[in-house]
Amino acid sequence: MKFLNRESYTVVEKDNKTWSGRFNEPVSELVQRYTASVGFDHKLAEYDIQGSLAHARMLAATGNISAADLAAIEKGMAQIRDEIEKGVFDWQLEREDVHLNIEQRLTALVGDAGKKLHTARSRNDQVATDIRLYLRAAIDDIIGLIRALQHALLDLAEQHADTIMPGFTHLQVAQPIAFGHHLLAYQEMLQRDTQRLQDCRKRVNQLPLGAAALAGTSYPIDRASVARELGFDGICRNSLDAVSDRDFAIEFCACAALLMTHLSRLSEELILWMSPAFGFIQLADRFCTGSSIMPQKKNPDVPELVRGKTGRINGHLVALLTLMKSQPLAYNKDNQEDKEPLFDTVDTLRDTLRIYADMLTGLHVNQAAMRQAALRGYATATDLADYLVKKGVPFRDAHEIVAQAVRFAENKRCDLSDLSLAELHQFSNVIETDVFQVLTLEGSLQSRDHPGGTAPRQVRLAISQAREALGSRDND
Ligand code: ARG
Repeated sequence: MKFLNRESYTVVEKDNKTWSGRFNEPVSELVQRYTASVGFDHKLAEYDIQGSLAHARMLAATGNISAADLAAIEKGMAQIRDEIEKGVFDWQLEREDVHLNIEQRLTALVGDAGKKLHTARSRNDQVATDIRLYLRAAIDDIIGLIRALQHALLDLAEQHADTIMPGFTHLQVAQPIAFGHHLLAYQEMLQRDTQRLQDCRKRVNQLPLGAAALAGTSYPIDRASVARELGFDGICRNSLDAVSDRDFAIEFCACAALLMTHLSRLSEELILWMSPAFGFIQLADRFCTGSSIMPQKKNPDVPELVRGKTGRINGHLVALLTLMKSQPLAYNKDNQEDKEPLFDTVDTLRDTLRIYADMLTGLHVNQAAMRQAALRGYATATDLADYLVKKGVPFRDAHEIVAQAVRFAENKRCDLSDLSLAELHQFSNVIETDVFQVLTLEGSLQSRDHPGGTAPRQVRLAISQAREALGSRDND
C-alpha cells in the first residue's frame, strides 16, 4: 500500500463540498485536516472492504438490495482492492476517512448500487467492525511471533541447562542458578502473555454491524449471517455498546504493555550482562552500534530501544483509557483517536518480537565469566546454612554461623569452598568433609531438584514440557 502522510493525499479545495443540503458553508481546510482520519485509517482498507462485502451479501440475501446491485458492488470492490494494492488508489482528504473514500470510489465506479451499500449501516458500526477485524488479525500474527520467540528462547535455554550463573536478588549475588533456568522465567512470562491475548481475542471477535448509528436499524437484517461470513464468534448484543466502547482495544493495549514490560526486563538484563563490568554475553554485531567518538564502544542499541519503546506502548494504553473515560453513550468522534495508538502498538510489537527472536539466536554466552561471578559472591552460603540445619542446627543459628564464615572468607579473599575443614570448624563442629559437596556451584544447583527448581535435570524437563505445550515450530 502506498505510504500516506498528512501531506500526501489529494486536497480538492475548490470542490470542498458541504456535508449535505443542511449545511450553509463548507468546513475550512484546517478543520478538514483536523477532522480527517484517512491519513491513518487507510490501514483498515482491506477490512473495510471485507466488512462491506459481507454486509452487501446480507442485504441481497434479505431482499434489501437486488442481486444485480450486489454483483455491481462486488465488481467495484474488486477493482478498488486492486487499486489499493497497486498503490494507485486516489485517497482524498476531502472524503474524510477510509470508509467514505472507498464508498465514494465505489459509487464513481458502479453508480447507484454503490449508493445502496450504506443501507442499514452507519460508519459507527462500520468502523467498529473494521477495527475488530484488524485487531483479530493482528492478535493472531502476534501470537505466532511470540511462539517463534519462545522457540528461540527454549533453544538457548537448552544449550545452557548446565551453564552456571549467579542468580540475583536486589542485583546482589544470591544463589547459583542455571542460565537456562533464568531464561525459562521469560518463557513463562511469554506463555502468560499469549494466554492473555487469546482471551482478549474472544472479546474482540464479536460483530458490531447491525447496530447502525446507535439504536439498530428498521431494515430486515441478518446479523448472524454477517458474523458467520466474517468469522466472528458472535454478535455484540447491545447496539449502543457495539458502536461506542473500545474496551477490546484497551484490553489489547494492556496485554501489549505487559508483553513489552517483560521484554523490557529481559532487555535491561541483556544490557547489564553485555557491560564489561559483567561480561556475561555478547550480542551479535548486527544488533549493536558504535560510538561516533569512542572507538572501543559497542552499544546494545536494540535492547535499549526495546526498553525505551515500552514507554511508548504504556503511553498508548493510557491514551486509550483517557480517551474512553467520560464519553457519554453512544459513539463520539473522540473514538477516531483510538487508531493511531492502536496501530503503533501493533507495529511496534511486531517489529520487537521479530528482532528479539533473531537477537537471541545470535547471542554469545561467556560461561567462564558467569561462573566467576557466581564464585565471587558467596552464592553457596545458603547451601552451607541448609547443610548445618540438616545436621541439627536451628536455622537462625546456622544463618549466623555462615555469616561469620563468609566474613572470614572475605578477609582471606577466598570462596567458602576454599576454606579448609579446620577453618570451618572454628564456626561449627558439626561440619564434616561432605560439606564440600554442597559448597560447590554444581552441588548447589543439583540439590534444587524439584519442579520449578534450578537443577539442570529439572531445567531440561521444563524445556521439554514447554516445547510440548508450544507445539512444533512448523506451525509458526
Ligand atoms: N472516522 C470515524 C472514526 O474513526 C468513522 C466514524 C465516523 N462516524 C461519525 N458519525 N462521524 O471513528
